[in-house]
Amino acid sequence: SLQHYAALSIFPEMFDGFWSTGMVRRAIMGGFITGRAVDLRAFAEGVHKVTDDKPYGGGCGMVMKPEPLMKGIAHLRAEMPGVPVLAMTPQGQPFTQSLAEDLAREKGMIMVCGRYEGMDERACIKADMELSIGDYVLTGGELAAMVVMDAVIRLIPGVLGGEESAEKESFSEGLIEYAHYTRPPVYEGMAVPDVLLSGNHKAIASWRLETSLKRTFLKRPDLLEDRSFSREERSILQK
Ligand code: ADE
Repeated sequence: SLQHYAALSIFPEMFDGFWSTGMVRRAIMGGFITGRAVDLRAFAEGVHKVTDDKPYGGGCGMVMKPEPLMKGIAHLRAEMPGVPVLAMTPQGQPFTQSLAEDLAREKGMIMVCGRYEGMDERACIKADMELSIGDYVLTGGELAAMVVMDAVIRLIPGVLGGEESAEKESFSEGLIEYAHYTRPPVYEGMAVPDVLLSGNHKAIASWRLETSLKRTFLKRPDLLEDRSFSREERSILQK
């Protein structure tokens, strides 16, 4: 059923290219989702529509005022009943593929994007969840919101097309993906591995799993730390 995506931001124009490009555009055109960015200033008071203020207790930078955020959140909750509200903040729960899979089963998402040094805590806790896309600080939550929506929207059944291609890919199995090749068979003296041209699907699957395990061990050993191995994986690792 149709999912609804909305972002609350003082820079709604940042989302223009996001809605109008690639798979997200296809998801909208295909009638899988709706997507829009809502201007937070519309919920601010006075002629100047101010959305930030000095921090209590002093210190540098500005803080997002609670009233526009709270009004915006309440407005979007009323328009999109049952849709979870996610506040983008570096203090949030780390975003992962497994969380993306859970979110893809919701009715959509309302993304709250802060700027400056952060949002007033009283507004932040109105969200159902605070999310971080990694341990670094962006100038605003907009890019984080697009990262999260992008990862979630491509998992909606029917959107990616090849259904299983989203299930059978890196991270969902706890490993990084196998190496990919396309034509030409030899490029600058580098040949595509013979097995991929063999037409032997069992051998190809086994080679892919082997490269996936090897690449994970070399590039992301942290992923293997608390992961157990299947019988098939153990037989490959024994070679
Ligand atoms: N806003 C600023 N930095 C962020 C991050 N790393 N994740 C989510 N929202 C943010």
